[in-house]
Amino acid sequence: MSNTLVVGTQWGDEGKGKVVDLLTADADLVVRFQGGNNAGHTLVVGGKQFIFHLIPSGILYEDKKCLIGNGVVVDPEVLLRELENLRKSGVVVTPERLSLSEKAHLIMPYHRALDLAREAAKGTRKIGTTGRGIGPCYEDKAARVGIRAVDLLEPDTLEEKISVNLEEKNFYLTRRLGADPLELGPMLEDYLSMAERLGPFITDVSMELYDAGRAGKRILFEGAQGTHLDLDHGTYPYVTSSNPVAGAACAGAGVGPGQIHHVLGIVKAYTTRVGGGPFATELTDEIGDRIQEKGREFGSTTGRRRRCGWLDLVVVRDSVRLNGLGSLAVTKLDVLTGLETLKLCVGYDVKGDRIAYRPTSLKKMEAAMPVYEEMPGWDREIAGARKMDDLPSEARRYLERIEEVTDVPVSIVSVGPGREETIVASNPFH
Ligand code: GDP
Ligand code: IMO
Ligand code: MG
Repeated sequence: MSNTLVVGTQWGDEGKGKVVDLLTADADLVVRFQGGNNAGHTLVVGGKQFIFHLIPSGILYEDKKCLIGNGVVVDPEVLLRELENLRKSGVVVTPERLSLSEKAHLIMPYHRALDLAREAAKGTRKIGTTGRGIGPCYEDKAARVGIRAVDLLEPDTLEEKISVNLEEKNFYLTRRLGADPLELGPMLEDYLSMAERLGPFITDVSMELYDAGRAGKRILFEGAQGTHLDLDHGTYPYVTSSNPVAGAACAGAGVGPGQIHHVLGIVKAYTTRVGGGPFATELTDEIGDRIQEKGREFGSTTGRRRRCGWLDLVVVRDSVRLNGLGSLAVTKLDVLTGLETLKLCVGYDVKGDRIAYRPTSLKKMEAAMPVYEEMPGWDREIAGARKMDDLPSEARRYLERIEEVTDVPVSIVSVGPGREETIVASNPFH
């Protein structure tokens, strides 16, 4: 038995979904433990594209169990829509195949309204959130006024909680933010009707994972977002409101640390970021445009153009420490094909001081100038590569340099969006 955890090492969109889909072949259960539908995880299977925001990326395998842990914030409308879209594609998801933790907090319409109104009020200082109500939902969780999946099973509790919360939220929305108030009646009706449809999926996920572990089953933990969007360790305040780091998987799924045997860090072969915040290696020239176009770097949740830049190994090295990474999966290597010279950021220069880690102060981070190493690129398309030896020597050297600087081996290389467009040098489950 070897349970594996997949975590993003940058600012999200590293290709976690693709890798989770690939590794699900060797797992019995796949569990999400944090974040919500701010995530957009894309898989391409049999030439068909699927984007999941809440449902774990293992759902296309009929014989595997997917679970949404207590650490996830769940917009029930989005979850139902995702189930419906899968049904239209011929994938019928029954409660035997998907569980929703009774302890997961629910995103309410007032969370979305607050997220949008606050961002609008911030003007140029906005975070660039996905507008899905993620932050306000986690705030209510910490303030102990959140509504949980279990409340969907008790209509009277649900009604009481919504009406108490709505009074306060409407005051804040209208008086502080100048937004429209929300009505109790339709909201309650919607949530009661969704409760009926979601009820059968609501269980104790922690207990399911415990029983599965005792039965010798293998668990794959699917992280969302990325380490540098982490509420504690990321580029605060330009972060999300959960902890995407590996350590959060225990609290967010309801397992002990001993249940995680391998942490796989997903590293995009370059760097991208959606939304605001510091980004030392950002390219605002034609090379950045070229990477953006070739990599099709548009957000899978909001459709926003992703900012692109060279691979920042300072960021990745921090992620090695913060997550205890056992190996790396380098994705989108094919996107770099055709660039004559590649740059790797191996340190920062902050006003004359050379540093090897990302500074905590936002001012220092904004002043950080990347220290680059240059490497020769390659011309030959690599999407057909299935083993390391199929790659041009320059591409292999690029991967080796990543291993040297991070001191972590590369176990997987992704050379295209398709499930099969992958080199598996060593499988974390084996
Ligand atoms: P996630 O949020 O980490 O799951 O990543 P996203 O799905 O948001 O973004 C990754 C995008 O890159 C998706 O459109 C994937 O289909 C695509 N992708 C993943 N791996 C590769 C790869 O190796 N090469 C190319 N060209 N595309 C990839
Ligand atoms: P996946 O799982 C990339 C970013 C938003 C914004 C910040 C806060 O697909 O990698 P939020 O809505 O969470 O309050 O927004 O975090 N963000 C992501 N960026 N990938 C994601 O998820 C993201 N989830 C949130 O763009 O900058
Ligand atoms: Mg994504």
